[in-house]
Amino acid sequence: MGDSLARRRPKGGFGKAAAPAGGAGLPPPVPHPTSPAAGHILLRRPMALPEPPIRLPPGVAIAPIEAANAGAVHKLMQRAYASGFGTVPANLLDWWEGLVTDSEFDRNLALVARAGDEVIGFCLCWTSSFVKDLVVDAGWRNRGVGSALLSTAIAALRARGAEELALKVDIYNGTAQRLYRSFGFGQD
Ligand SMILES: CC(C)(COP(=O)(O)OP(=O)(O)OC[C@H]1O[C@@H](n2cnc3c(N)ncnc32)[C@H](O)[C@@H]1OP(=O)(O)O)[C@@H](O)C(=O)NCCC(=O)NCCS
Repeated sequence: MGDSLARRRPKGGFGKAAAPAGGAGLPPPVPHPTSPAAGHILLRRPMALPEPPIRLPPGVAIAPIEAANAGAVHKLMQRAYASGFGTVPANLLDWWEGLVTDSEFDRNLALVARAGDEVIGFCLCWTSSFVKDLVVDAGWRNRGVGSALLSTAIAALRARGAEELALKVDIYNGTAQRLYRSFGFGQD
């Protein structure tokens, strides 16, 4: 994070696999191969699109991350990314220190979904308007938790004056691609 070039570019937007060729919109999801992480596509969503409503599933609350739930969030990401659709440093302290000392960290963009005391989802955006992580625990998927996290992040970024939101998604992650497409994300 020391050099100015790194600060000018959205995180994850360089040094990674190039997007496959394609026109406007997303390519159709393809079946998962035996080995994931074959490549990513870069998706963008103009903030000028209508703001998606935040629909919290019953019993679910979303709030900025706190040190007290860092361990649960880290475990959640380790479980969710076992699919190969994302990565998180193996060591909790390495991850936490790297997160909170990052120049693009804002606690209001590091959102934790909880059901009671249980951490069930997490969405991290960098202040450069880049979605770094979106994970929901397997037992809570398909109930709107991921959508609620993303909607909350979009509202927070809009409040910061962001003009666009970007992210990278594995070319084989059809589930996440569908979710992002429903939010108006598209490929260049
Ligand atoms: C991608 C991910 C975060 C989505 O989280 P989620 O909580 O399941 O997301 P949602 O519930 O909001 O949306 C998922 C689907 O459930 C549907 N859904 C939402 N609420 C629903 C409800 N109450 N009843 C039935 N279906 C519902 C959505 O319409 C969506 O359908 P679609 O797949 O046909 O588009 C989750 O699958 C995950 O953690 N995957 C592993 C990590 C990962 O790949 N992260 C993305 C990295 S880029």
